[in-house]
Amino acid sequence: MSARTHPLVLGIDFGTSNSAAALIGADGQIHTMALDGVRAEMPTALFFASETHTVLYGSEAMQAYLNGTEGRLLRSLKSLLGSQLMDEYTAVNGQSIRFFDIVVLFFKELKRRCEAQVGQPLTRAMLGRPVHFVDDNPERDALAQETLGRAAREAGFTDIAFQLEPIAAALDYEQRVALETTALVVDIGGGTSDFTVIRLSPARSQQSDRTSDILATTGVHIGGTDFDRLLDLATVMPLLGYKHVGTGGRPVPNSVFFDLTTWHLIHQAYTRKAMHFAKELWTDYVDQTLHARLMDALDGQHGHRMLAGVEAAKIACSVSGRDALVDLDFLAGMGIAQSEHLGATVTAHVMADALQQALGQVVQCAQLCVQRSGLPTVDAVYLTGGSSALRPLMQALRTAMPDATVVEGNRFGGVAAGLAYAGATLAN
Ligand SMILES: Nc1ncnc2c1ncn2[C@@H]1O[C@H](COP(=O)(O)OP(=O)(O)OP(=O)(O)O)[C@@H](O)[C@H]1O
Ligand SMILES: [Mg+2]
Repeated sequence: MSARTHPLVLGIDFGTSNSAAALIGADGQIHTMALDGVRAEMPTALFFASETHTVLYGSEAMQAYLNGTEGRLLRSLKSLLGSQLMDEYTAVNGQSIRFFDIVVLFFKELKRRCEAQVGQPLTRAMLGRPVHFVDDNPERDALAQETLGRAAREAGFTDIAFQLEPIAAALDYEQRVALETTALVVDIGGGTSDFTVIRLSPARSQQSDRTSDILATTGVHIGGTDFDRLLDLATVMPLLGYKHVGTGGRPVPNSVFFDLTTWHLIHQAYTRKAMHFAKELWTDYVDQTLHARLMDALDGQHGHRMLAGVEAAKIACSVSGRDALVDLDFLAGMGIAQSEHLGATVTAHVMADALQQALGQVVQCAQLCVQRSGLPTVDAVYLTGGSSALRPLMQALRTAMPDATVVEGNRFGGVAAGLAYAGATLAN
C-alpha cells in the first residue's frame, strides 16, 4: 500500500474476546490488518511470562498459558472499562502494574503490528464502542469511553473518534446491499449484545452523516463470556462443590465459584485472602473430594484453563449440535484414581437450559430495538459477532423475527471494517 500523504484512519475494534483493525487505503480499498499471524482477529489477551519476563499478545498469549508456561494471563480487559479496577494495580512477574497500563500495552502492540503492515505511522483512529459499556449507569459508561480513548492516546494515537459497534457493523453490511433495506444489525460478541435498526442503501452509503438513517439502537451487557460463565457454573463447578449441599444442610458459599468463572475476575480467586478462605471451606463440605478439586484448581491456577475448556466445548456443541467434553484431568484431586478421567459435558440440552434466561434477555433487547424504530418489522436481520453463531440464540432470533431474512455476516472482521468506512468519511 503506498499511502504517503493519505490521512489513514485505523478502524479499531477493541473487543472483549477478540480485537481487529482495518483501514481504507489510498487506493480506496478496504485493508483488513492481519493482526495475529495471518488472521485478522487477535484474542484480546496478554501473557506475562515469568521466566523470560516477556509479554506475549493474542493467540501467542493464549498458547503460552494453555501450554502451562509460568506466568499470568489477562483476558477480557474491556470488561474492566468503567470500573474502579482499571486504576488498581495487579501483580505480574513480581511487579505491580495498573490494569489501565495493560490496556495501553495492548494498544501499543496493535498499533505496532498495523504500522508494520502499512509501512507508515498511524496516528488517527476510529474506535468502536458498544451501545452500553455498562448497563444503566451513564457516568460509568462515559468513564469507560474516556478511559478507552485515553489508553489509545497513551499508545500514540493523537486523533481519536468513536463510533457505535453495531453502526460500524451496519456500514460493513451496507457494502453488500444492492437495494434499500431496513436491517436489524445484531452484534453479539464476548461481552455485549448490541442492536441497531438502520436504513441501508448504496446511495445512502455515500453520505457522511447517517444520523437520520439510524432508527434505533439498544444494547445489553451480555455476551459470550457470560455464556461461558453460566456453562462453567452448570457443568464444571459442581465438580468443585458449587451447589454442593454440605454440612448443616447448607450449600457451600459460592463467591469463589463466581470469581473462578468470570474471565476478568479469575485472578481475584488466587489472592492470599481468597485462597485462605477457600481452604477453610473444607468444614462446609461433606464430600472432601470436591473440596480437594477446588484446592487443586486454585493452587494450580486453573481457572482460565477450565473456562477456556468450557468455551471450546460451547463452540463445538454450537457448531455440531453434538455433546462436547471439557477435559479436567489436570484436576488430579484426592480420591481420583490415576486411571479415572475427570470431565464435564456440554450438551445442547444443558446449553439451552443454562443459557435460557440470558438468551431471553438478548432477544428481548433485539425486539425492543425494532419496537423503538417505529417499524412494524425489518427486511433483514444481519448477524455479526462470534456469539451470533450460538445455535440456540440464532433459533430464538429467527422465532422472534419470523418475517425477516436472516443474513449471516462477517463474524469477526465486520465491525473493524465498518469503523474503517466510518473513519474514511471522517478523513474526507
Ligand atoms: N461458533 C460459535 N458459537 C458460539 N459462540 C462462539 C462461536 N465462535 C465464537 N464464539 C464466541 O464469540 C465470542 C467472541 O466474539 P467476538 O470476537 O465477536 O467478541 P468481541 O468483539 O471480542 O466482544 P464484544 O464485541 O462484546 O466486546 C466469544 O465469547 C466466543 O466464545
Ligand atoms: Mg465485538
